[in-house]
Amino acid sequence: MGSAPKVVVTRRLPGVSLARLAEKAVLAAEPPEVPMGREELLSRVPGAAGILCTLADRIDSPLMEAAGPSLKVVSNYAVGVNNIDLAEAARRGIRVCNTPDVLTQATADLAFSLMLAASRKLSDAERALRAGRFTGWDPWGFLGMPVYGKTLGIVGMGKIGSAVAVRAAGFGMRILYHNRRALPAEREKVLRAEYRGFDALLTESDFVVLCVPLTPETRGLVDRERLRRMKRSAVLVNVSRGEVVDEGALAAALSQGWIFAAGLDVYEREPLVHPDLLAAPKAVLLPHIGSATLETRERMGRLAMENLLAVLSGTEPPCAVN
Ligand code: GLV
Ligand code: GLV
Repeated sequence: MGSAPKVVVTRRLPGVSLARLAEKAVLAAEPPEVPMGREELLSRVPGAAGILCTLADRIDSPLMEAAGPSLKVVSNYAVGVNNIDLAEAARRGIRVCNTPDVLTQATADLAFSLMLAASRKLSDAERALRAGRFTGWDPWGFLGMPVYGKTLGIVGMGKIGSAVAVRAAGFGMRILYHNRRALPAEREKVLRAEYRGFDALLTESDFVVLCVPLTPETRGLVDRERLRRMKRSAVLVNVSRGEVVDEGALAAALSQGWIFAAGLDVYEREPLVHPDLLAAPKAVLLPHIGSATLETRERMGRLAMENLLAVLSGTEPPCAVN
């Protein structure tokens, strides 16, 4: 028996039990309450066998190099793994794991919240009330767009996209979707969803919800030209990754009236938000809270731990992406 493997946990996280971790591994240091800076992370990883990290930690080639050949597993406390250089991990034989499934329903709930909030101007209306501008019922105040019975276009019909489709059925929505590959016909039937090419989906939809992972193919997917194809009455919702949308173009689309509104949970340069979006009353802006329920975060933590400990003990992790 060798000594217990060294593990770095980059942040104090719900569901990640340090006591349970300590039974199998040695924690490099107490995980901090605030994001670990790049330098601190680089200084902590040498000799680590496992890193349990968040989507805010960039796990790239220099980081893997700093960790050295001891590194066996990077367990991401997120479903998206765009913060990790997967090709480099593969070259070095490092397993990369994530937390799908457990956050699907919470994220779909949030996508639907953004559809409702953006189309009915909820943030703007509440801001007005809190600022003392509720002066009585107003027949002209905060006129929004209906959700019930409208056409929803889901871009990325994976688990989260499908969970959004299930919710949309209750709102009597017609459901279109775009995906790399069309779903099997039986699955389309269950979800009551019709396949469309991306541009056709943009032209026909009243709501466009982005649920794609960030990849070279989806980076900058929704640009100026795509935004111009959308209906002037349309609402764009993004719960995937900010880089899927050109934020400058979206700010222009909102101010020029190319689309009606946008609901965003993710941004190109988090935690920075494009100043023109911050100034746009037609944008509902949330601070990346898609999976933010305690129940979900605890399940993410347990899964991230299981993934990490499985690889360290030489068994197959429940959720490996490579
Ligand atoms: C959140 O954005 C996640 O990928 O889990
Ligand atoms: C996430 O798990 C997705 O497939 O959308």
